[in-house]
Parts: sequence; structure tokens; C-alpha cells
Amino acid sequence: MAGFLSSSIGKKFLMSLSGLFLILFLAVHATLNSLLLVGPEAYNEAANFMATNPFIKVMEPILALGFIIHIVYALILEVSNMGKVGPVGYKMAKRSHQSTWSSRNMIYLGLIILTFLVIHLANFFWKVKFGGAPEIEGTNMHDTYKLVTDLFKSSLIIDIIYLIGAIALGLHLHHALWSAFQTLGWSNDRWRKIWSVIGDIYAIVIAMIFGLIPLYFYFIN
Ligand code: HEM
Repeated sequence: MAGFLSSSIGKKFLMSLSGLFLILFLAVHATLNSLLLVGPEAYNEAANFMATNPFIKVMEPILALGFIIHIVYALILEVSNMGKVGPVGYKMAKRSHQSTWSSRNMIYLGLIILTFLVIHLANFFWKVKFGGAPEIEGTNMHDTYKLVTDLFKSSLIIDIIYLIGAIALGLHLHHALWSAFQTLGWSNDRWRKIWSVIGDIYAIVIAMIFGLIPLYFYFIN
């Protein structure tokens, strides 16, 4: 087992599993964020449910582990691939047959998303967990709606950072889903096309939710 996980395919296997887990997390997170468009009560109720639900509390360290595994193994694979020239013609074949701009730049897109994530966690997660988030009067619940919308309404620079993060995430996801299923062996020519279409629809919806909500609060609401 340890031998498999330290092999190149074992590392890709772990990256695919952790990536699929993060894809699920993003779907839940985007659904919750859509409630910002419904109004303060709906969003705060959902945010406070997430903050106090025992199942979500157990999932939080697992989510952090998912991110860590995905990032660390991406870096290890990137570094170990840097030294390799590969068989003659392989790169050309890869370029013409399967490779897209996104697939060739997954590591850079990942690093942009990581930078965005650090800023994002400092904006909201840190304040909710360690102080600085407003509270709803007369309760001990956080007013996460106010925390989020005040920031989006007050800073176009932050909104643009969120837009860049969302575009990088969309491009990363454009390659991610079918590639993960391919690595896990759950794909063939027919299914590759199906996963690719599902992955693209998912990538566009997720990028639009994450990228447009901040701009909506700045320009419209
Ligand atoms: C419109 C865009 C977004 C909004 C409004 C938003 C909102 C939030 C808020 C309010 C929290 C703190 C929740 C709490 O601790 O109670 C949070 C946490 C988090 N966000 Fe986002 N988020 C956005 C985009 C993203 C994106 C694009 C990613 C991933 C690339 C992401 C990843 C995370 C993670 C990992 C956490 C910490 C875990 C958690 O508390 O759920 N977020 N987000």
C-alpha cells in the first residue's frame, strides 16, 4: 500500500480522489452562497446551521486534509515531472491529441486558486472562527450575510480578486472531472466525452456563482 501511494500513479490516484471530494465541497459551498441572493435570513440560517451541525464539524478537518493532500501531491508530481524529458514524441502527441490550455496549466491555475483561498479564508473563515464577524442583535449567531456583503459592496478590488479566483477555478475544473475519472479507471472513449460535458457545465455554473455574486453586490444590490 505504502509502495503504491509513493508511486507516480499512486500520487495521481490520491490527487484524483481528493479532487473529487473538493468538487463535492464546491457544489455544497456554491449552493449555500446562492442563498446570498435570496436574503439575509435564508443565508444566515444556512450559515449558522453549517457552523453548528456536528456532521459538518467532523467534515471540517477532513476538508482541510483534502486540500492539503491535493496541493502537496500536485507540487510533488510537478517537481518530479520537471526533471523528466519523456519519450521522444510524447509531448507532441499529448499536445495535439488530448492537451488543452487548461490541462497544460493546471499547476499555475491551482497556485492562483491557492492564493485566492488564503485571501478568502482571511476575509471570512478566520473572522467567523476567531473573532471579527458581526453578530445578529439579541442572538449569539453570526451575521455572516453582513460580513460577506459589506466586503463585496465596499471593495471593487476584492470583487475582482474573487472574479479572477472564479475564472481560474472554472478553467481548473474544465480539465479536472474527466481527468480524475480517467485516472481512477472509470472512463473509456464514450464516458470521457460524457464526463467532459458534465465537467464543463459544472465548471461554468460554479465559476459564475463564485465570480458574479461579489459583482452583484457591488453594482446592483
Ligand atoms: C462568492 C464567493 C464565495 C463566498 C461568498 C464564500 C463565502 C464563504 C464564507 C462566508 C465562509 C466562512 C464560513 C464559516 O466559517 O461559517 C467560507 C469558507 C470557506 N470557503 Fe468560501 N466563499 C466563496 C468562494 C469560495 C471558493 C471559490 C472556494 C474554493 C476555491 C472557497 C473555499 C472555502 C473554504 C475551503 C472555506 C472554509 C471551510 C468552510 O467553512 O466551509 N470559497 N466561504
